[in-house]
Amino acid sequence: MDSHPSFDEFDEINHPRPDATDFDTVAERFISRRSFLRGAAAAGASAFVLGAASLTGRQAQAAKGWLDFAPVAANGQDAISVPQGFRSYVLTSWGEPLWTQGVPFDPATRGTAATQALAFGDNNDGMALFEAPGGRSVLAVNNEYTNLEIMYGARASKVPETVDDVMKGKAAHGVSVFEIAKDGDNWSVVVDSPFNRRITADTPMEITGPAAGHDLLKTALDPTGTRSLGTWNNCGNGRTPWGAYLTCEENFNGYFSSSEAAQDQKPIALPEGFDRYGIGPKDWGYGWAKADERFDISKHPNEPHRNGYIVEIDPLDPTSTPKKRTALGRFKHENAEVVVAENGHVVVYMGDDERGEFLYRFVSAGRYVEGGDNADLLADGDLFVAKFNDDGSGEWLPLTPAATGMASKAEICIRTRQAGSAVGATTMDRPEWVAAHPMKAEVYCCLTNNKNRAKKPNAGGDPTPVNGPNPRAGNNYGQIVRWRPDAGDHTSAKFAWDLFVLAGNPTVHQDAYAGSANVTADNMFNSPDGLSFDSKGGLWIQTDGSYSNAKDFAGMGNNQMLVANTETGEIKRFLVGPKESEITGFAWSLDRKTLFIGVQHPGEKGDSHWPEGGDAVPRSSIVAIEREDGAEIG
Ligand code: FEO
Ligand code: CA
Ligand code: CA
Repeated sequence: MDSHPSFDEFDEINHPRPDATDFDTVAERFISRRSFLRGAAAAGASAFVLGAASLTGRQAQAAKGWLDFAPVAANGQDAISVPQGFRSYVLTSWGEPLWTQGVPFDPATRGTAATQALAFGDNNDGMALFEAPGGRSVLAVNNEYTNLEIMYGARASKVPETVDDVMKGKAAHGVSVFEIAKDGDNWSVVVDSPFNRRITADTPMEITGPAAGHDLLKTALDPTGTRSLGTWNNCGNGRTPWGAYLTCEENFNGYFSSSEAAQDQKPIALPEGFDRYGIGPKDWGYGWAKADERFDISKHPNEPHRNGYIVEIDPLDPTSTPKKRTALGRFKHENAEVVVAENGHVVVYMGDDERGEFLYRFVSAGRYVEGGDNADLLADGDLFVAKFNDDGSGEWLPLTPAATGMASKAEICIRTRQAGSAVGATTMDRPEWVAAHPMKAEVYCCLTNNKNRAKKPNAGGDPTPVNGPNPRAGNNYGQIVRWRPDAGDHTSAKFAWDLFVLAGNPTVHQDAYAGSANVTADNMFNSPDGLSFDSKGGLWIQTDGSYSNAKDFAGMGNNQMLVANTETGEIKRFLVGPKESEITGFAWSLDRKTLFIGVQHPGEKGDSHWPEGGDAVPRSSIVAIEREDGAEIG
């Protein structure tokens, strides 16, 4: 973001970390890293062959057929580029009304609290499409955050100046749910549909699971610790087989500030654990505490304990109360990949997106029954954190009171990062989206980048030497790790892993920073983030990284979307986004003929007028992509 340092930078300024001093450890690991990398190419190749052998001929053919397009060249245009034979158009953009009482986006004011509350939120991210009775299509979309210069571009200061400005910002966050329909050639929003709903930073929520009612969750407004208001910084998403939408609270910390600090201009004592989550005296400039005392940590120190969860929403019932699922842990949640294991337990894979944080797995206590009452399966279960061994094996370490030394399951669900540190989880290069293969027990996770790898510890002080799945110091390109649960059982304690791709730049580097063998001058990218399989087994990769197109990133152009054949390792660039945007979020139409993707924060540094062009205000938008011949698109 332009308005403040990146989310991770912000946390490190508030809570400085020592430079790593254990050079011996780093050096020792460096040697194993080099041997790992040599082995990785070979291991990766044989794994691909094994993977191909395990697919039926029809599946392999389907994956191959889908990749049959001419890749898009990297570019720095202020536009969406798709391959020949495809077309794209905007479904909706930040600020467009969902009801007729709303008003179309006004670039002169950029809206008010009242108009924003009736409109599509800002910076759309994860999303999912649901089928409502009668074959109707309902889209649930996260609205992650706002860019101050864009949201408040009509103010000379470019920051919120009034209470209404702050309330507009709060209303631009959360989740937008709305019906869409095909009107002629194109999809559009069904204004005034009974399904339309805005969930914001003020929507009443129920807190469920082990942490519900715990003392750390009790506040002046909610002495029961079971009712909270709102959700914000909703990043990736999940969807359940019972038709629920999961929205994931990521950088929830940047919204809190301290009035005590503002008065005294000196450091304040923070409650236990705040440093691990980056909660400190300053917010990112949104000023929510000025309009809503909940966000003042001096007055309401437990409020931040009520955020950082996954929230389950019934997308087809606008009157339903969203449920915070504390059983899935509290951290900077990226997405929630839901799989039903063969034994019926629901498994949710989840990344914690911060430098040196962990990868988690939830296994439900109950079992999924098709057509049964599954509504509260995510209320109770066991939480695990991943340990990757350098030899290609791995295990899920249970986060129990006995293993972590914590007093209760409730505490583990609130101080989940500390629990992961206590059991020796593997520090990762910022786990972003997780995606599970639709045809076999194989799971992938984007590790987007980590410039601190082998240089600084994580926020909890855990050292971050190079390790198997995170093999490069100062990793500015990222990689995708994949694992196969033992015996094909997602509830197994153990798994085998390898790296599917190490992103890199083979035109600049000849060493490990050139990337793995499946990265070439023609498909190179950095910072994989969004990740999803289509129904045919194609793996779609979206990037959120450097778009400088210079130095280490020369030749990569703007952020982009690629599609991979996980059997052969082949990766092809499918789409390039407009200037200063990231591509994030996937949803397929019920007939699989339209793929919706998100374009987030175009012009975050001031150099984009997408989608309208000219001198228009840049606006985050959902883009529809279709084949010109009308065939399915994954
Ligand atoms: Fe909101 Fe980790 O991306
Ligand atoms: Ca992301
Ligand atoms: Ca990212």
